[in-house]
This record gives sequence, structure tokens and C-alpha cells, in this order.
Amino acid sequence: MNGVGLHKRLEANTGLLIFGILFVSAIGGLVQVLPSIFQDSLAAPSAGVKPHSPAELVGRDIYIREGCSTCHSQQVRPLLAEVKRYGPFSRAGESAYDRPFLWGSKRTGPDLHRVGGRYSDEWQRLHLLDPRTVVPNSIMPAYPWLAERPADAGPDIQLRMRALRSLGHPYSDADIEAAPAAIEGLTEMDALVAYLQGLGTAMPAGGGR
Ligand code: HEC
Repeated sequence: MNGVGLHKRLEANTGLLIFGILFVSAIGGLVQVLPSIFQDSLAAPSAGVKPHSPAELVGRDIYIREGCSTCHSQQVRPLLAEVKRYGPFSRAGESAYDRPFLWGSKRTGPDLHRVGGRYSDEWQRLHLLDPRTVVPNSIMPAYPWLAERPADAGPDIQLRMRALRSLGHPYSDADIEAAPAAIEGLTEMDALVAYLQGLGTAMPAGGGR
């Protein structure tokens, strides 16, 4: 059968056509997905990237709970305008200990991947209590309750760290043992600020993988 004949048969037979479409898109999918499974450099942590501290882990969960990622992305793209505004573009290895990753896709507010260290802890606190005290025109919501709730009110931190360890996050027994004491007395606000201040700080200013 020549090529035209095959084409005609494909177009005339819906079942065959559906199979053909699925087959071709599956190849496209595999080309995108397979390298991310087998190419270690994509999953390996970049130099200097450490698993989150107990306070940062709690802060991260609050970031998820409060829906911060509905307005903030955490990925600086490799474009001049972005790098000038936010700093070095995000590397895959920086997200090695982010489960789930919080890259986001919506930027009502600025990207937060390099926000760690950009402002003082006090600025972050005031901003979360009421963004308008530090940025008069801000449309970001206020999160005053974070200052009143204890950081250890959520699910058991040791269980969470054990679960992450089973996925390959290198927490030692001593790290897990010391975790409850590390968050004792902290508010959810303290934990969230600790998380924000750690964002994107492992990447040296010059870049790296
Ligand atoms: C409705 C959208 C919205 C939500 C939800 C939101 N933000 Fe924002 N955020 C903004 C906007 C807009 C700005 C820019 C104005 C400002 O600085 O307040 C901003 C600014 C910021 C900044 C300063 C960034 C910079 O580089 O100047 C930080 C930090 C921040 N947000 C953290 C958070 C956290 C943490 C949460 C969740 C508790 C959150 N935001 C939820 C819209 C939002």
C-alpha cells in the first residue's frame, strides 16, 4: 500500500485514527517525561541545597494552606527581564527537596523564588500582618491569625520528616529527634517567615547548576 492509501484508510477508520493520534501524542509525552526520570542531574540537589529545617517545613505547609501559590510563582525564568528583577534563574536541582514543588503558574504578586534575604524578618512580619503598612497600594490579603497560632498545631513534625526521609530527604535520626524542640514556642508567622527567608538562598550569586 502506498502512503496515500494508508492515509485514506486512517482517515476513514475512526478507531484507527484515534489509536494513531494516541500513539503519536504518547511519543511526544515520553520525549518530555522520560528524561526527567532518567536524567539524574534534573533530580539531584544543586550544590548547597539542603532539606528544609523543621520551622521551614511548617512554614511551607502554611504557605500551601493559605494558598500563597495562587498569586505567587516560585520560578525565575531564564529571561533577561526576570533575572534583572528577581536574581539568578531557578535551577531544577533547587527544588530537589520541595515535595510538592510550588513553582506555580500565576503571578498576581511578584515571583518569590529569590525573596529569601531581600527584606528583614520584621518587614516580612509587618507585611503578612497587613501588607498595606509597608506597601501602601498592595492588594495582597492580610494574614493576622498567623501571629496567634502555634507552629506545632499541625500534623506531627516528626512523622512528616520520616515520610520525607523515606522519599530520599537526608534527615538524620538526630534531626528528627530535635525537630519538636526546634519549633516549640514558634508561631505560624515565625515558621512562614523562616520559610520565606530561606527561599532561593542556596544558589550562589554567580549561578551554578
Ligand atoms: C491575592 C493575591 C495574593 C495572595 C493570595 C498572596 N499574595 Fe503576596 N503579594 C501579592 C501582591 C500583589 C504583592 C505585591 C505588593 C506587595 O508587596 O504587597 C505581593 C507581595 C508579596 C511579597 C513581597 C515580594 C517582593 O519581592 O517584594 C511577599 C514576601 C509575599 N507577597 C508573600 C506572600 C505569602 C507568604 C502569601 C501567603 C500567606 C501571599 N503572599 C499571598 C499578592 C498576593
